[in-house]
Order: sequence, then structure tokens, then C-alpha cells
Amino acid sequence: MKKQLVQLIQSKINQVLKNYGIDNNSAIDLQIPPDKKNGDFSINAAMKFAKLCKCPPQKLAGEIKTLLETETQWFSKVCIAGPGFINMYLADAIIEKFFNELCQSENLLQTNVTEIVPTVVDYSSVNIAKQMHVGHLRSTIIGDVLARVIEALGNPVIRQNHLGDWGLPMAMVIYKAEPVVRKAEKEGVSLEEVLPLASLEQLYKAATAECKEDSKVATACHEYLVRLQQGDSELLDLWKKITRVSMAEVYRIYKLLNVKLTEADERGESFYRNMLADTVEEIKKSGLLKEDEGAQCVFLDEFKSKEGTPLPVIIQKSDGGYNYATFDLAAMRYRTKELGAKRIIYVTDARQVLHFKQVFATARATGILADPNVSLEHVPFGSILGEDNKPLKTRSGENVKLSELLNEAVDRAYAVVNEKNPKLSDEYKKEVARMVGIGAVKYADLSQNRNNDYVFSFDRMLALNGNTAPYLQYAHARICSIFRRAEKSIDDYCAKAIISAPEERELMLKIMDLKQSVVSVATDLRPHVLCNYLYELSVCFSSFYDKCSVMNCKDEATKASRLEICNMTRKTLAFGLDLLGIEAPREM
Ligand code: ARG
Repeated sequence: MKKQLVQLIQSKINQVLKNYGIDNNSAIDLQIPPDKKNGDFSINAAMKFAKLCKCPPQKLAGEIKTLLETETQWFSKVCIAGPGFINMYLADAIIEKFFNELCQSENLLQTNVTEIVPTVVDYSSVNIAKQMHVGHLRSTIIGDVLARVIEALGNPVIRQNHLGDWGLPMAMVIYKAEPVVRKAEKEGVSLEEVLPLASLEQLYKAATAECKEDSKVATACHEYLVRLQQGDSELLDLWKKITRVSMAEVYRIYKLLNVKLTEADERGESFYRNMLADTVEEIKKSGLLKEDEGAQCVFLDEFKSKEGTPLPVIIQKSDGGYNYATFDLAAMRYRTKELGAKRIIYVTDARQVLHFKQVFATARATGILADPNVSLEHVPFGSILGEDNKPLKTRSGENVKLSELLNEAVDRAYAVVNEKNPKLSDEYKKEVARMVGIGAVKYADLSQNRNNDYVFSFDRMLALNGNTAPYLQYAHARICSIFRRAEKSIDDYCAKAIISAPEERELMLKIMDLKQSVVSVATDLRPHVLCNYLYELSVCFSSFYDKCSVMNCKDEATKASRLEICNMTRKTLAFGLDLLGIEAPREM
């Protein structure tokens, strides 16, 4: 409806402007007045164009108003306010028309794709042999939402898990794990038994300490790295085994988090190992590769240190080894050339802002992108803080383990569910506790402006009131219970919606706003916009349900209509929560 409305208003404004000899093609900015009394929508076009037309804004507004008033099927009233705002009141019939069309349509987003943009979303991108900690949580869940949202709008999405699996940490773990693996093999013990992720992490920590203390160990680890990168078959075999043990644990957490990444999405740094030399060769051809203290670097004018000295992007180290940036450049080449990406999105914490600025600029300057028009977008995010406002740590100062955090959320959610509805079976309570606990953790993160740090608080995220997952899930379950009481099937309910109260009208308009918030998330890559929308939708539903009785409604057509409005609210909530990767129980 919004789209047609904007088109209509645009054409009226252009018609008026034409009389002043102005050919306008700038888009109008349709606003929603904060006070409903001032109409459903408002525009400031008259003020914007007054100067250009050499005409008082009030007069211009009057002329636009006159044209809008002819559209009686759209507007019940058009008014001029203040210095020249035009406030518009939609006719109930037009809201009903578009709302009923939405009820009939298969797809809540009513997508008709005109331009398909193949999009790579690089997210989660964990490091092998290290436990996933809370720092990886944000990349994983924000990235997953962005992928789902862009996909829902009809674009092919290629998920890429850019694992850290080919650097020194990996060589260090292999160095320490080798004797353990050999012993296990001799004794016929499975690796899954001796090398779970926790002990791999111990091995990595031990190696780090030993490397610091003993230069011989450091040299040995370095030799392992060279051997691995040269393709030593024995080390490669160990590397593969360690990777699988490590990833098995990561997949357990993805599943718990309801995150869509699979083994098919793994494109670790190792994947690019045979493309690095070619990438460097191509960069060399651009003439931008310069030697600096033995390393091959690219210097770009826009990157200087505070003191004004040029900052390099190191492409190849003096020992011939490659850098984090080199892998990213090789990956960009691959993604544009082989995957046909027109848009590449990277989700990492804000500490990597400079890195991505540099590699994006380097890729463009050196011409290694198969498609120079590809959009390269870094999606940075802040940290998760503890209640003390410092980065979230355990009491002993360790990084908090993601799996422990999630388990605690589920346990606490169980208590909430149990208190709310003790009559549910224990098995179902556990199922709901999982949805609510995990949903609460994800939503608390997603509902924040991602650039900010936020304080992790179980009490706040599990509250049944306020902008939380349980509040939305509860609204969803409440609607399901209305249908159970009405003895109607919620999955194929269908009736004509009519407006008989202002709360119905408001809720119908809100439901029709879904697409706008989804498009906004796909464009600006900020999931909290969708969270805010779903929260406002639930609040609207609450006022509707307070004022408009459904079950006790005497008029059959009104009752059927109200059930349909409930039905559409539920569908929209479930759809939106699914885009956030959050499940919505039907009872809680
Ligand atoms: N593994 C990296 C880290 O943990 C993140 C990789 C992000 N993706 C990329 N293409 N650089 O810091």
C-alpha cells in the first residue's frame, strides 16, 4: 500500500510543480505524524519546494491538497498544518482493501523481485581449536539475520564461514596435538574422545605459553606452519582431524542457536591457500606493490598513522608468508569471480573497521575484483559487557563460554515458563524453555543498535514485559490460545477484515508496515529496526485486544474480522521472529 500511496502523492506533487515549470524527480519523504490526531501520513513537500517555485508554502500546499482531495477512494481528509505541512487521513475502505489483499497473498512480503543481487554474507568465521566465546556470538547471530532477511526479499544469498584455520595458531595446536593423536591411534582410542574442543584449547594455550618462554618451541611451531602451508601430507591429515573435532562442537552451538550455517558454507582461510600467489601476482600488475623492510606492501594515500606516516597493507611478509589481509583479498577475488557476488557483507566486531577499510580500498585500487561495482560492506558491532560495564568475563577473568551461557539462559527460561503456566507438561515446558531462553539471548543482542556495546543481563532479557523475546513470544502464544478457545484452526483461517474501531485500524496499518522494516534491515544492515517493529506490533495488538472483544463479540462479521486481524498479527510475528532466527511457541 505504501508504495502505491507514495507514487500517487508523488504524481500529484509533480503535477503542481509542473505548473511552476519545475521538473521534479526527487522522492518524497512520507512521514508518520507522532500524534495520530494529525493524520496517518504527512509530507513537507510544500515547504521544500516553496523557494524553488517562488511561491509561499501555504499556497503551494493548498494546490497539492486540492489535487489530493480528488482521490476520495484514498483519503477521507487532507489538511494543511503549521507552515505548510500536508496531513493526510486514509479512508478506511482503502486500508481494508490493501489489508485483505495481504491476507490473501501467499507471501507476507509480497515480493516481486525486479533486481536480483547475489549476496555473500561472511559471518561467524570462528577460529579453529578455540572455543567459541561470547565475542563470536554477535557475528553469528547478526550475520544469520542479515542472510535470512536478504534472502527473504528474493536475493540469492551465499553464506561464507571464513574460518581462521590456516595460520600460526593452527600450527601451534598441531604441534602440541601430534603426540596426543599418535598415542590415541596406537591405543585405538577415537580422537573425539581425546581431542574435544576444550582440550584443543588447552593445547593452544599451552603452546602460546611455551612459545613465549622457549624460542625453540616458537621456532618449531613456525616450522610446522611452513610445512603445513607447503602441503606436508602428514600435517595436513592432522590438520583435517583437528578441524573436524573443533567444528563438531561449533555445529552443536549453531544448532542450539538456530543458525543456518552448515559444512557446505565453510570457506576457511585454508580454502584460498592455492589462490594467494595468483592474487599477489595480480596486485603486482597494478604497480601498487612496494617492498618495505622486506615485506610486499600496498600503500594508499588515504591511510596514514596519526603522525602522518603511510600505513601499509602487508600482502606478503618478508619470510614469504601471507597475511590476514591477503586471504581477504583472495577471497574477494574468488567471491566476485567464481560466486558472482554483487554485494559482499562482512560481520565482525568493530576492532576490524580499519582492516576492512584497507582491504576494500586495496581491492578497488589494485583492480582484483572481477566486478568493480560490487558493493563491499563491513558490518561492525560493539562488545557485550557484564553488569559491571566491563567486557563480559567469568569471575576468574576467563572469557565466558558460549555453551555455558546458553545453558544458563535455558535453565532460567524454564523457571519463567514454569511460573507462567505450571499446567504444561514437563516435556513441553523444556521445549518452550529452549525457545524462550535462546530467543531471549539472541533478541537482547539483535534489538540493540549494533554499533553500541550492551550489558548482558539475564533478568532483563527474560522479562515478560518490555522489548524482549519472551514478550513477543507471549503475544504470539496468546493469539494461538484465542484460536483454541474459538475452536478455529489458526493455520488456514480466512475471513474478511473490516474496520469498526480505531484500534483495529491502527493494528491493520501496523501489520502492513512489515515490509518496510524488512527492506530497511536488508539495506542498512541493522536488525534492531525489525525488532522495534515487532515490539510495536505487539504493543498495538495489546491495545487492540484490550479494547476490541473477540470472543464475546456479538456481531458475527465483526468477530470473524477480528479473528482475521489476530491471525495476521500472529503470522507477522511468527514471520518476523523467524527472520530473527527465533522460534515462537504456540503455548506458554
Ligand atoms: N576469524 C576472524 C576473527 O575471528 C574473522 C574473520 C572475518 N571474515 C573475514 N573475511 N576476514 O577475527
